Amino acid sequence: MKRKLFTLSGCFLIIISITAFTNIEKTENLDEQKREPKNLQILPKDISSDDLMAIMKSFNYALNVKCGFCHAPQKENPEKLDFASDDNPTKDVARYMMKMTNEINEKHFKDHKKDGVLMQIGCQTCHNGHPDPVMREIG
Ligand code: HEC
Ligand code: HEC
Repeated sequence: MKRKLFTLSGCFLIIISITAFTNIEKTENLDEQKREPKNLQILPKDISSDDLMAIMKSFNYALNVKCGFCHAPQKENPEKLDFASDDNPTKDVARYMMKMTNEINEKHFKDHKKDGVLMQIGCQTCHNGHPDPVMREIG
């Protein structure tokens, strides 16, 4: 499990350092984000809140979306998001994508190092700022 996180955070590292300075989305409902995660199925359950947020922000950046693209609104206060809820089906697509990305890295880029840096793929590799990766017509 720990290894998985490293692989995942490894490929987000560059993205994270960029988002740290651009502040894509102002940190709304901070209390909600800070409490213990209760519905993690892919990420380690004991992940730190900082690491979790860095990964979430890297998703926003890679797909050029906001948190609400994957997270459903709260029932009692639809202005806010219910991060633990699975009511938004896009969240499960994202889980599938996280698994797939890990699998591709495990299978094809396990020890691919260039100048000591692990060369692996991340969401950004395919999405490049689009919710749906676009294929350019050839010719
Ligand atoms: C591309 C989809 C996507 C985007 C965008 C996204 N998230 Fe997530 N988020 C997920 C998925 C998937 C999980 C569950 C991961 C798992 O099961 O291990 C999750 C889990 C969480 C959790 C843990 C909830 C719990 O209690 O289990 C929090 C908090 C969270 N996200 C906050 C955010 C914030 C804040 C943003 C915007 C900065 C954001 N997310 C953007 C997909 C996304
Ligand atoms: C190997 C390429 C590839 C990688 C890597 C990848 N994706 Fe995707 N993703 C796709 C493709 C292609 C689609 C469109 C598939 C479809 O619509 O059926 C897609 C669709 C999605 C969607 C649905 C978008 C929508 O409009 O509903 C989400 C959410 C998503 N990806 C999240 C992620 C996240 C988060 C990561 C990183 C953990 C990731 N993807 C990594 C190729 C990729």
